[in-house]
Amino acid sequence: DSPPPSRTMQCFPDLVVALSCGLVAFGALHLRSEMFKTLQYGKEEDRQEPGEEAGKESAKKPPRRHRVHLPTSCAWILMELPSIMVPTFLLVLRHPPRLAPLGCKLLGGMFCGHYFHRTFIYPFFRRGRPFPLHTVFAGILFCMFNGFLQSYYMIYCAEYPDDWCNDVRFTSGFLLFVLGMGINIHSDFLLRQLRKPGEFTYKIPQGGLFAYVSSANYFGEILEWFGYAIATWCLPAFAFAFCTVCILGPRACQCHRY
Ligand SMILES: NC(=O)c1ccc[n+]([C@@H]2O[C@H](COP(=O)([O-])OP(=O)(O)OC[C@H]3O[C@@H](n4cnc5c(N)ncnc54)[C@H](OP(=O)(O)O)[C@@H]3O)[C@@H](O)[C@H]2O)c1
Repeated sequence: DSPPPSRTMQCFPDLVVALSCGLVAFGALHLRSEMFKTLQYGKEEDRQEPGEEAGKESAKKPPRRHRVHLPTSCAWILMELPSIMVPTFLLVLRHPPRLAPLGCKLLGGMFCGHYFHRTFIYPFFRRGRPFPLHTVFAGILFCMFNGFLQSYYMIYCAEYPDDWCNDVRFTSGFLLFVLGMGINIHSDFLLRQLRKPGEFTYKIPQGGLFAYVSSANYFGEILEWFGYAIATWCLPAFAFAFCTVCILGPRACQCHRY
């Protein structure tokens, strides 16, 4: 006998397509908006925006020194937590429980493994300037949306053959994901070594992939999500990889110019 259908939530393929298109549209709009206004945190927060006169703040916004900021560790935990909480919530809601076959378990594990590190490990090592509250809110909303889309698809919709782990898309994507994660974590480590505790100055990063790429941590992150997209071979993951390029690409260019 087949198990009774879930009474809590089902797979709505149209919803997955609509949300994925929303993510792509968000990425494209973000990319366009970066031409006029940079994402406000870190070294970009003090950057003069087009139309702003030197030494003057925009009339529409409170002066930067008056904006509310959170300590950087606290901000990163808050921003990234939804990427773990939303999948956990959806998994608990699913009745009967499902994260089978093995392919789905591994793919879900890759997504949650990244965000476990980003939420519960990375923030405790991060040194840096306090984070503007409005950017934290934007990060929380993004992680809720993306966490819902990726996990809803994986928990309620995805179907993989039992031997998906032997498929060349899974193995090549998985290797790319692990390589990207390694580059990302190592590069973030090298960035941390640039400063003494309590220091906030910017220096030119050395070593690792920084010898070839000025934003090696972003390069690693982009590789990771393209690896995840190839391993999952699904629309939501490709939409997220595209969105990551749209978010990190302009920041990487700004960083290179800096
Ligand atoms: N998937 C996505 O869409 C997405 C989006 C954003 C971030 N991320 C990931 O989240 C992580 C952090 O992102 P981020 O944008 O904060 O990275 P970031 O701008 O490179 O900053 C990372 C840390 O290094 C410090 N730092 C950066 N450049 C430095 C330099 N030249 N000299 C000394 N210290 C320097 C920063 O200090 P300050 O805080 O003082 O600037 C910050 O503490 C990265 O691994 C990134 O890939 C992912």
